[in-house]
Amino acid sequence: MENSSLEKMIEEAISGAPDLKALEEVRIRFLGKKGELTQQLRNLGNLPPEARRDEGQKLNLVKERAESLLAGRSEEFKKQEVEARLEKERLDVTLPGVRFAAGKIHPITRITREIKNVFVGMGFEVAEGPEVESEYYNFEALNIPPDHPSREMWDSFYLGDGLLLRSHTSPVQVRVMEKRRPPLRVIVPGRCYRRDAVDASHSWMFHQIEGFMVDRKVTFSDLKGVLSAFAERMFGDGRKTSFNPSYFPFTEPSAEMAIDCFVCSGKGCSVCKQSGWIEILGAGMIHPAVLQAVGYDPEEFSGFAFGMGIERIAMKKYGINDIRLFFENDVRFLKQF
Ligand code: PHE
Repeated sequence: MENSSLEKMIEEAISGAPDLKALEEVRIRFLGKKGELTQQLRNLGNLPPEARRDEGQKLNLVKERAESLLAGRSEEFKKQEVEARLEKERLDVTLPGVRFAAGKIHPITRITREIKNVFVGMGFEVAEGPEVESEYYNFEALNIPPDHPSREMWDSFYLGDGLLLRSHTSPVQVRVMEKRRPPLRVIVPGRCYRRDAVDASHSWMFHQIEGFMVDRKVTFSDLKGVLSAFAERMFGDGRKTSFNPSYFPFTEPSAEMAIDCFVCSGKGCSVCKQSGWIEILGAGMIHPAVLQAVGYDPEEFSGFAFGMGIERIAMKKYGINDIRLFFENDVRFLKQF
């Protein structure tokens, strides 16, 4: 075949190939192992030497040109493919997105965090203890005698084998002190359980934050100082506190701490039930019997402890009148915090 017509054939085949696949077929047809051009190059050997040189040069030119045409076309097809894909997968980034309903922190978690922050700021560390507790930690080590009313079957959830759902967070005082030596400044948030009939102010499950400090020469004025600072941080600067005598088997002396009402500043309103004061926690100096139970010498170490109900604090702070609202998971209520 005449070189120029072979060249023309190749050019036409390349420009007529509709896609990459057809283009590859064209390449094989002319430049493949048994391709038409390849054959001709092979046949060069049968020509006389002078003709071989001329013909060889021409064929090689055709080959080079075919190769560069093929490469150019294949480049174009690839580009087109990418463009088509970009077009097909086009995203309109200006379309409005799918809105997620953002969740919220539960008010109990929120208040717990707030209280924790206040005490951590005063150098307290955070500890936790088990909700399934032994009678020893829940009662005995806390100097609660067997005939104390909180030990009665209808006040606590007993699980058998000397275990119960803890009725307060105070057992963690003992657990921490047993393992460590003073100085200690610890708070303990957690769930507690009591066999109470459910009403607007009672729930069989609720949350407490326990706190205690033990060292040499810790006195009742340390207790007053720390808890007064807490009251101000939590309920507003200038908050007044009042400590009234109370009784807990594991503290002596014991007190209830109240703050002047942050709604009416003591004049009397529905939040403070017209008394001007809101009771927020129980506290006292850790009883020597408790210190002895963990192997501390009460002559050497002393400490204070306190415990508060988180629901109660949240109810006062947010003006919530029914404890059940915390546990019903009604988003209309939870959305407000
Ligand atoms: N554990 C007590 C209660 O549940 C509260 C308390 C803790 C009182 C620590 C004094 C000291 O009522």
